[in-house]
Amino acid sequence: MDDDDSGPAPRPQPQPAPRLQPPREWDAGSYQVVSTPHQGWGAEILDRLPLRGDETVLDLGCGTGRVTAQLLERLPRGRVVGIDGSAAMVAEAQRLLGSDRATFRQADLVAFTVDEPADAALSSATFHWIADHDALFPRIRAALKPGAPFVAQCGGRGNIATVVAAVLAVSAREPFAAALGDWPGPWNFAGPEETRRRLERAGFAVERVWLQDSPKRPQRLREFLRTVSLGSHLECLPQELRDPFLDAVVVQLGPDPVHDYVRLNIVARAG
Ligand SMILES: C[S@@+](CC[C@H](N)C(=O)[O-])C[C@H]1O[C@@H](n2cnc3c(N)ncnc32)[C@H](O)[C@@H]1O
Repeated sequence: MDDDDSGPAPRPQPQPAPRLQPPREWDAGSYQVVSTPHQGWGAEILDRLPLRGDETVLDLGCGTGRVTAQLLERLPRGRVVGIDGSAAMVAEAQRLLGSDRATFRQADLVAFTVDEPADAALSSATFHWIADHDALFPRIRAALKPGAPFVAQCGGRGNIATVVAAVLAVSAREPFAAALGDWPGPWNFAGPEETRRRLERAGFAVERVWLQDSPKRPQRLREFLRTVSLGSHLECLPQELRDPFLDAVVVQLGPDPVHDYVRLNIVARAG
């Protein structure tokens, strides 16, 4: 029987969902030690956030609260709500900073809600860990009062290209290829054009979205890779291959490598 004369057309089959990863766990103690670059970026972002000092501000992907602490200094009469997907990060932030002015909770940013819309939001070094920015930005918009400022920075298009190339080269080799193969990694390094469109669709008035080179030479390279850049890769590997994988990436990067960070900056307001 021909395909075209057999009665009703076949119903379209549901398409598989894109591979979305839930937030992973982080080693909060190690992150406190190796996250020096993140502190510098946090200070830059904070400078772009207009505050009176009495607002309630969301820190989206607050980690252990190193940037949250800087934000609190700008809010002598205000408060911060830190949200993060990692239970260990939230516990450490709560231990270090928890008070009636700083509260922390665990939630996935593509699904979080707040009891009361906030006066402002900030996010640092987090959005490139989130695959679905079309789901993320409407959540943030819904958590803000109309007119609330929103500033953010994350890895953008072209971020750490030399690290990505080294990781792909090592992943393609056995014994790692069986688990990693040609997996491009968990990162979502978006560009400014599509980010502006997504923000506007989500109801933000966008002031500026741009890429910025920010090369850095990480201290404690191996620990930095383990805790930050390659945490998701290591989770995919059996325990006995994790140290060899890290060693191979360090060798592949060569001596004294510079990480070619490219940051995606966002300055916007809830519309
Ligand atoms: C590099 S750390 C940045 C932490 C902090 N903002 C800083 O600058 O030090 C990235 C953080 O994003 C969080 N994160 C990643 N994906 C997330 C998601 N889908 N929902 C909530 N948090 C997420 C991680 O748990 C981690 O704490």
